[in-house]
Amino acid sequence: MALHKTRIASFIGMALLAFGGTCTAATAGSDARPWMNPRLSPDQRVELVLKAMTQDEKFRLIRVDFGDTENGHVMAPGALGSAGYGPAIARLGLPDIQESDAGLGVAKPLKLGATALPSGLATAASFDPTVAYAGGAMIGSEAHRRGFNVMLAGGVDLVRDPRNGRNFEYAGEDPLLAGQIAGNAIAGIQSQHLVSTIKHYAFNDLETNRNAVSANIDKASARESDLLAFEIAIAAGHPGSVMCSYNRVNAVYACENDWLLNDVLKRDWHYPGFVMSDWGAVHSAAKSALAGLDQESAGETFDKEVYFDKPLRAAVTSGEVPQSRIDDMARRILRSLFATGAIDHPAKQAAIDFGADRKVAQRAEEAGAVLLRNQDALLPLSATQSVAVIGGHADKGVLTGGGSSAVQSPQGNAVPGLAPADWPGPRIYQPSAPLAAIKQRARGTVSYASGDDIAAAAKLAAQAKVAVVFVEQWAAESVDTPHLTLPGNQDALVEAVAKANPHTIVVLENNGPVAMPWLAKVGAVLEAWYPGAAGGEAIARLLYGEVDPSGRLPLTWPRDESQLPRPEIPGAVLTSMGQPPQGQPAQDVDYNVEGADVGYRWYQRKHLEPLFPFGYGLAYTHFDYSGFAPRVANGKVNASFTVTNHGKRAGVDVPQLYVTLPGPNEVRRLAGWCRVDLKPGQSAHLTVTADPRLLVDFDRKSQHWQQPAGDYQLQLGHSATSFQGDGKVALPAASWAADASPAGTAQPCVASGAP
Ligand code: BGC
Repeated sequence: MALHKTRIASFIGMALLAFGGTCTAATAGSDARPWMNPRLSPDQRVELVLKAMTQDEKFRLIRVDFGDTENGHVMAPGALGSAGYGPAIARLGLPDIQESDAGLGVAKPLKLGATALPSGLATAASFDPTVAYAGGAMIGSEAHRRGFNVMLAGGVDLVRDPRNGRNFEYAGEDPLLAGQIAGNAIAGIQSQHLVSTIKHYAFNDLETNRNAVSANIDKASARESDLLAFEIAIAAGHPGSVMCSYNRVNAVYACENDWLLNDVLKRDWHYPGFVMSDWGAVHSAAKSALAGLDQESAGETFDKEVYFDKPLRAAVTSGEVPQSRIDDMARRILRSLFATGAIDHPAKQAAIDFGADRKVAQRAEEAGAVLLRNQDALLPLSATQSVAVIGGHADKGVLTGGGSSAVQSPQGNAVPGLAPADWPGPRIYQPSAPLAAIKQRARGTVSYASGDDIAAAAKLAAQAKVAVVFVEQWAAESVDTPHLTLPGNQDALVEAVAKANPHTIVVLENNGPVAMPWLAKVGAVLEAWYPGAAGGEAIARLLYGEVDPSGRLPLTWPRDESQLPRPEIPGAVLTSMGQPPQGQPAQDVDYNVEGADVGYRWYQRKHLEPLFPFGYGLAYTHFDYSGFAPRVANGKVNASFTVTNHGKRAGVDVPQLYVTLPGPNEVRRLAGWCRVDLKPGQSAHLTVTADPRLLVDFDRKSQHWQQPAGDYQLQLGHSATSFQGDGKVALPAASWAADASPAGTAQPCVASGAP
């Protein structure tokens, strides 16, 4: 079989890009400011500047003020109207600290606008770290050109519940996928000479009662799940800062959690950057400082008091907190500013090429939309068909999730005035109308109905060859959705349209899994997530087959709430969307129910069949795997195989390698994958290396990562439940200390010779 040229997106060398090429434009340090010499290492530079700093300057550095005017706070003169501001220490040549949200774009100042990436889940669904990196570089560049040098971007809390209101900011349920995607997004941001902030550390996996709830989990399971995602992302992206979360973890607030901050992050992972608090997440001075918090964020607006000023100074005077800890806080903050190039390449106002940036967002959406259903090849559409476009404000734009990460286009909100107007609103739409993009492509009649009048929409659908119904689920920071049902009358709308037209296609703009009682009655379903700045264009291109759907689910899609580890979220409320509270919020959430078996691992453990499994997604063609050959080479587990495009169209496949460790009660884990672009009839011979961090368990007693001796089952999956390739390799016992965990794989996927 001839080997054609293939495009393989892997995460080869992405981590190397993180700090590459900094320091070029810097002015060499004068004798007076030797730390400004870019030829010195960040560590050397920090030691020099620390010696020159006064105690007041250090104390100024370890807190930032709110950078905006909300909550009665008067904006500091130098602030840019965003999340955080710390004044420059001009005497030392240290710039203002200007912080802005977030991982999907530069959220503030809202009115100026910025380019919105699609949901983090869309980027994760691409299974393509280069897409994540490009998105990060795009928002890093916009942020730098707005004058920001710290981005609050890099959400990697695992999706333990599809109702978590912030899932759209995160990267799914699997620690390896989420870690690689978030890590590469961070590396992209930092390539633009800004600090990026991985968050929310840790177990901020639900929003309900987030300021008080204790996320309870056994420490070994913690290291194998959410913490593993952070560990992998930090190794891939080297974020300059980590944001500790609002919630408590095993009864201790995350921002004063000695185990999380000192033991795991700083000791075991050797993290050299700084820990900043979330906005309103600090509850103490000495306790937080001693536990490892390095910078208090906007305490004057959101905390009971500014703990890292007078109270902490008093704790130093009394000897409760040693001076060395204050020095360490300042050292870590400055080190990250030097290491990312934020000091050598100061952020400053500059023109932004919104046209080019929109393309980056479009590419992410096109790579991350997931085709869930396509009966009788209803999709792709043909230009000759007449189309009834219905619902979802598709005549105006595409939806964005709410809260601090919400990005508004420079052209403004395409559908202003919808509830909720206040936090966690406003509800923002990107001005990229699917209707206009469909009209550009269709030669047949294209009509539109808002869907408010169900009978009118059904009538319109009956007159067209195909009906495309856009349904929406707005979700937002600080609230969880109480259940999976689509809001309003959208289920009835889809039912009526599907009854009127057998060729009905549903496009979902949502936070993630929703109930689809009408699924069997519609011809096709495209999961578009929150589609971002060019979402309308991307959706139309996917529907018309100008680009092939290639996203794979980065999370499991349950049949209903009863399949979830916690069928109810007590106190979950979305009153602004007409959903009343569901009981009183709990003070504890028990993550030991599933422990490290998050998502697809939980479904396998409980023998549950989800609606759609993790890793699932259709294409307009189909792929087969053959010649699966797992082996151990140079101490690493890998598997070779051939993937063939058996259809008549080009397409992108994501073959996934799953491993099951020896021993009772083990379930499979994603250990690696490829993303490969194949022409009709084309084959590629690929080798995936299993990431060694997925071949170990954390043993609490010995505080070691243990690789048990025995047979490891390897499976090649189209998803987490569908396999074409099965084999075993034997591994000897091995162990790694907690502070020397196994290293990741530099080249997880390579094309190797002809099959
Ligand atoms: C959010 C953070 C955000 C911060 C600053 C908090 O409410 O949890 O993700 O970075 O606000 O806006």
